[in-house]
Amino acid sequence: MKKVITYGSFDLFHEGHYRLLQRAKALGDYLIVGVTTEQYDEARGKLNVVDSLMERIDHVRQTGFADKILIEDHVGQKVEDIQKYDIDIFTVGSDWAGKFDHYREYCEVIYLERTKGISSTMLRGQNFGIVRLGIIGSGRIAKRFLPEIKYVSGIHAEAIYNPHIESAKELAEANELEIYTDKIEILYEHANAIYIAAPHNTHYGYAKDALLHGKHVLCEKPLVLKEREAKELFGIAKEKNLVLTEALKTAYAPGFAKMITIAKSGNIGRIVDVEAAFTKLVGEGGRELKKEENGGSFTELGSYPLLVIFKLLGTDYQSVKFTVFVNAEGVDLYTKVDIRYKKAVASIKVGLGVKTEGNLIISGTNGNMVAEAPWWMTKNFEIHYEDTEQNEKFFAKYAGQGLRYEISAFVAQINGYQKKIFMTDKESIALSRFMELFLDEKTEKEMIYMEKERC
Ligand code: CTP
Repeated sequence: MKKVITYGSFDLFHEGHYRLLQRAKALGDYLIVGVTTEQYDEARGKLNVVDSLMERIDHVRQTGFADKILIEDHVGQKVEDIQKYDIDIFTVGSDWAGKFDHYREYCEVIYLERTKGISSTMLRGQNFGIVRLGIIGSGRIAKRFLPEIKYVSGIHAEAIYNPHIESAKELAEANELEIYTDKIEILYEHANAIYIAAPHNTHYGYAKDALLHGKHVLCEKPLVLKEREAKELFGIAKEKNLVLTEALKTAYAPGFAKMITIAKSGNIGRIVDVEAAFTKLVGEGGRELKKEENGGSFTELGSYPLLVIFKLLGTDYQSVKFTVFVNAEGVDLYTKVDIRYKKAVASIKVGLGVKTEGNLIISGTNGNMVAEAPWWMTKNFEIHYEDTEQNEKFFAKYAGQGLRYEISAFVAQINGYQKKIFMTDKESIALSRFMELFLDEKTEKEMIYMEKERC
């Protein structure tokens, strides 16, 4: 009996998939089809798969060509399967030509002509329409963001706005965008969704205006610096049936989601303490330290540790204590925060003028989880137990600048096929409340004057 194996995502099952399976089956007597899991697709950079694994398996089954269906969930599985099932022929479409030649060591490799004019990517675009993105701001974050858009299907960058037109022009030209403007109406004309990458204290104004113009909004963190503003924005978005997403990249990273799920699964027992630190030395006079733009360590970096704390311990904390090291202008160069919960504690260290070890430690009654800097771009983490033999290490993909994950979640939410919620409105509102607490003159804080030394 000649055994054939093939693999794919088989998303939005189409004619190309059907013809591939039909010809694969005809190559032998017994066909095995491997269908990829969502996590594996994400890990290999295939974002925005619409159908669930069960639906995709069901579609393959309905063709009647597969004698056996497998789930593919890790790198290296293909070779394992080829050996385990004693495969004679490995086959995939010609878009993969040459990529699997090294399997010839184990079996015959056949690339079948790909059916022209159809693909899941194309169908995703047709079924859901392309998100036409207008970008507000052309600074450092926007520069990093633009190249990441190309990795997500169903979205296209159309135009850049900056009141300083020269800056918009420069970024537009560098990314081959034809439209750049210093008039926001022009941006609205070309876009149905807006990404806000402007200074913190402009977010509220831009986001509200964009929502009132009927645009979906993806806004850099911190979304806003006041709780009532966050509530108002989410209220408008809901009323107008628009998507409002806070672009806190960590929340959307596959490794981070995995870490949070494991931490909450009870593996390390009840979580009693979360310590999270993030420091990044910047020069005096840098954008991050501009007082008039609400710069400083906490507004710049505080969202990352707070995100982990809120995910693990919730947003109903009992008390907060800030210790703040400020420069002559009152901008914080280093901030420590102690947060008390009913049955847990959390602490944060963020700094633009002090360098600490930037790790994340989650302590539970049964063990701890540790992720080292840059844990906010989660690539790996460990679980430590009393019995060290039980210790475990986890690895995850974090591709490029990692912004593609939040972009993908934004597109999926707009198109209504987002089943996973990476960041809730409640978490975004709680983050803005915390920013407000920090910036509020009346909040009790221990203030320590600190000279900014050269770095
Ligand atoms: N395939 C094909 N003809 C097409 C599309 C896909 O023969 N027009 C084949 C692929 O080469 C692969 C299998 O079908 O062997 C599963 O492909 P998959 O990656 O799931 O489908 P695509 O439509 O290529 O998906 P995407 O657009 O997301 O890359």
